Amino acid sequence: MRVLLIGSGGREHAIAWKLSQSNKVGKIYCAPGNGGTAREEKCENVDITSNEGLLKFALENSIDITVVGPEAPLCEGIVDLFLENNQKIFGPSLAGANLEGSKIFAKEFMKKYNINTAEYSTFLNPYDAMKYIEKCKFPVVLKADGLAAGKGVIIANNYEEAKVAIEEFMVSDSLKGAGKSIVIEEFLQGVEASILAITDGNTIIPFVSSKDHKAIFDGNLGPNTGGMGTIAPNPYCTEKVLEDFKEKIMLPTLQGLKQEKLYYKGIIFFGLMIANEDVYLLEYNVRMGDPETQVVLPLMENDFMELIIAALEDNLHNTEVKFKNQYACCIIAASKGYPNKYDTGKCIEISNQGPEKVFIAGGKEANKNLLTSGGRVLGVTALGKSLEEARSNAYNGIKNVDFEGIYYRQDIGL
Ligand code: AMP
Ligand code: GLY
Repeated sequence: MRVLLIGSGGREHAIAWKLSQSNKVGKIYCAPGNGGTAREEKCENVDITSNEGLLKFALENSIDITVVGPEAPLCEGIVDLFLENNQKIFGPSLAGANLEGSKIFAKEFMKKYNINTAEYSTFLNPYDAMKYIEKCKFPVVLKADGLAAGKGVIIANNYEEAKVAIEEFMVSDSLKGAGKSIVIEEFLQGVEASILAITDGNTIIPFVSSKDHKAIFDGNLGPNTGGMGTIAPNPYCTEKVLEDFKEKIMLPTLQGLKQEKLYYKGIIFFGLMIANEDVYLLEYNVRMGDPETQVVLPLMENDFMELIIAALEDNLHNTEVKFKNQYACCIIAASKGYPNKYDTGKCIEISNQGPEKVFIAGGKEANKNLLTSGGRVLGVTALGKSLEEARSNAYNGIKNVDFEGIYYRQDIGL
């Protein structure tokens, strides 16, 4: 099979690595890919990013299946475009992708299908939002309705902070349209968990749970990032939590997809908060997580391409998804200064690769060298029989990579 994989992050390198292990896969075009996918077996980078350009490429190069990594093309309707042209593609339609593309749509869907989530109100103009925060209990969480590349959620501890957030989102339009409408919701204090699941619209199968580490510094201090490391399974996802998740969140979501007739053959990512001895859905993402994918796929026993084919052929009810009885830990190495201003163009050196796997995120190939090109540069994933062993293997592994200004947290999975 000839596969077109869309995206350029560490998640896409992990997907490319996993798909390349499938006997069914002969060739993977990564659009645009990165320095890691460029070096992966069966892979070739192609410099295309527009949805029309991707469709043209798929048609002209007899692509069998297109796999979409990031949310942006999905929220622009790439799946609908490919389906109209009889091209097989793994991901939700635009209507389904709205579960990530619009927080208001997602919260209304959760409410309609009785999915456990934080209490909320929706605001379409700043006057009503300002009036609301005069009386509400703090902290509260303010969420821009639209896609905001991780900058759309603010936890306000008091009236002043909430006022500044409303002004920035709704008045100064700091998110270029994404914050014109907002959700203000109840703050939940607890532990977060990520669960990815695959669905064909009739069946939904959860993957192993994982845990992101969003803050830049150890001890979860400092500003949030795209994710500084992950572990899987998530030690807080006990059997009780997983049961509650299935009953109160996952199955009602599937029910909602069916009832609303949302075409959805792809991955749903449930961003969860375990709080008050219960589990709440904070958000949906309509694609795999980054860096969750970098721990989930290395633990997966299945051929991922076979799973994708099963989803596209409505055959997930006949499919079992299995994970290794091990732990995985991924440590992200970032450029000095990230998530604020950082330098690029530093040479990445990778030596004595042991059992760890290096997934490149912000790294590009130039004259046979790998150069840093982003804030999150790479992730080092290792497995172990225990979480401690996976951690220790990953921290040993990261000693084998270096670039000027390398920074990583020391407490992933502690
Ligand atoms: P979201 O994009 O909705 O997942 O929000 C991004 C991050 O904000 C989450 O990963 C949480 O860390 C935090 N967050 C979102 N909603 C809440 C909430 N209701 N209570 C506490 N923290 C939240
Ligand atoms: N790691 C969180 C995300 O992918 O959105």
